[in-house]
Amino acid sequence: MMSKVLDRILEEDVKEEINHGVRVSNLAYHVAKTLGLYENICRELAVAGMLHDIGKLKVAGYLYGRMEDTLDVEEMRYVRMHSRLGYEILMREDYSDFIIESVLYHHENFDGSGYPENLQAEDIPIGARILRVCDVYAALTSDRPYRKAFDEKTAVELMIDEVKNFDMRVFLAFQKTIHEVELAHSWGMPDIEVRIEEETT
Ligand SMILES: [Fe+2]
Repeated sequence: MMSKVLDRILEEDVKEEINHGVRVSNLAYHVAKTLGLYENICRELAVAGMLHDIGKLKVAGYLYGRMEDTLDVEEMRYVRMHSRLGYEILMREDYSDFIIESVLYHHENFDGSGYPENLQAEDIPIGARILRVCDVYAALTSDRPYRKAFDEKTAVELMIDEVKNFDMRVFLAFQKTIHEVELAHSWGMPDIEVRIEEETT
């Protein structure tokens, strides 16, 4: 039987994942708009933003309930599989190539230091390059069990330190996007409640 403490941890983690997905989705949509991409592509990217970490469902044991952000080498190797696992899940569900590739490559870095394929620069699909920026920003500006959220200015400064990871054109569009006032409310943390029920057999 699952303990109350574990229930609590799982609820918090699932809630955090969903909130993170919503934030990345909204932000990615607006960054894509700023870049002048077609509306249908912006919408597809919103879907990819919501689903980008779906592969984490398969590596949940390593991720949920953690009180620190350090992983040992073996754990890291396992967790790094989540983008490919997400890709495999979505392949089975008939999502578009654009969505599937955005998810598969959302941890590729512009300088080739990312995963799973160490793609570089324009070899990384544009959807994945946008998700990369939005994912990092949404993570930095959210509370974690082991640290408080960074404010927006600090988060951007931290990202500038790691700007080699990002497509500069996307990064500039992202900065422009987060400074647009009317957006400030639309992608704040939604108040999503999650309840995990024990399965009765
Ligand atoms: Fe991810």
